[in-house]
Amino acid sequence: MSIGPHTLAQSGVVIPPLGVGTWAWGDERTWGMGGYDADLSRDTIREAWRASIDAGATFFDTAEVYGGGESERIIGGLLAEDPDRASKAIIATKFMPSPWKLQVTSALLSALRASLDRLGVPAVALYQIHGPISLRGLGALAEALAAAHQEGLVQEVGVSNYSAKETRTIHGELAKRGVKLATNQIEFSLLRQVPETGGLLATCAELGVVPLAYSPLGQGRLTGKYSASNPPPGKRGFSAHPMETVDQVVAELRRIGEAHGRTPGQVALNWTMAKGAVPIPGAKNEAQALENAGAMGWELGADDVAALDRVALPGIRSFANRFWQHG
Ligand SMILES: NC(=O)c1ccc[n+]([C@@H]2O[C@H](COP(=O)([O-])OP(=O)(O)OC[C@H]3O[C@@H](n4cnc5c(N)ncnc54)[C@H](OP(=O)(O)O)[C@@H]3O)[C@@H](O)[C@H]2O)c1
Repeated sequence: MSIGPHTLAQSGVVIPPLGVGTWAWGDERTWGMGGYDADLSRDTIREAWRASIDAGATFFDTAEVYGGGESERIIGGLLAEDPDRASKAIIATKFMPSPWKLQVTSALLSALRASLDRLGVPAVALYQIHGPISLRGLGALAEALAAAHQEGLVQEVGVSNYSAKETRTIHGELAKRGVKLATNQIEFSLLRQVPETGGLLATCAELGVVPLAYSPLGQGRLTGKYSASNPPPGKRGFSAHPMETVDQVVAELRRIGEAHGRTPGQVALNWTMAKGAVPIPGAKNEAQALENAGAMGWELGADDVAALDRVALPGIRSFANRFWQHG
């Protein structure tokens, strides 16, 4: 297949084949801002932002919960200080549908307004339900997303961590309200192949829903800089396979990357793109942003993809993966 930009379902927002995840921007617990990673600062984030946009990775994913709103605040500052790059940036954020938020339409609209306030924008390109943890039915959640769209606060609506069945159901509930489901953001990488093998990607393709692949670098494990003898620092709970197992996947990424003049991380990202997903790797600085954006503009051969399929791991039931357990 040919890897190109994706046009989203509702308003025709066009996103590039690769975006940028911004969980680490302002986050202390998992990604070390103000903690173990002394190199991560507002300056390195600004450099990552600029390098990403200049390289065509103009789609940024954040959430109300990242850094307790700090990720959105940082993006708001970046948008305000650089109108030229701001005009190219496509912003996605998320609503956390905690079980106690029973009045889900009013909870979503007030969370969305708070996000827009932190971002300093009148609307966002994409608003996503963060995960299937609401006590309300999918009809009520669809109603809430449709209200946000109707008020002109969001161009596109999406979900995250939804199973194939949930994706199909909310797609139908939104359609009843005249709204199209644009995206489902899921953990998908060579360390978690289950969205492909379990049929979720096929369901998304059938419904015209673009899958956004989160933690596509296995939270840094697939870049080649970590190994069994040098494991990643911090609380990286997603796809925390034993590093001896990860080392075998990285060895294959390295082998294929050498043939293409690419890094292991670029090959890992290109593999998700070959499957029809848009990876949203986190970038903490300019070098990471540039390397990740270098996963665009070329394609793995079918034999490379098949070789990677053979070493891919199905997934793991770590604490974080148990919380978001859907394929
Ligand atoms: N919807 C959800 O439930 C959900 C869950 C998780 C993530 N997400 C989204 O997906 C995004 C990406 O996922 P993620 O941040 O968990 O994992 P990831 O993208 O697989 O890994 C990101 C981390 O890998 C390292 N890295 C990135 N590029 C690198 C490079 N070129 N060379 C070397 N190291 C590199 C950095 O950490 P170090 O430098 O510290 O190693 C970076 O913070 C998040 O930012 C967030 O927007 C969504």
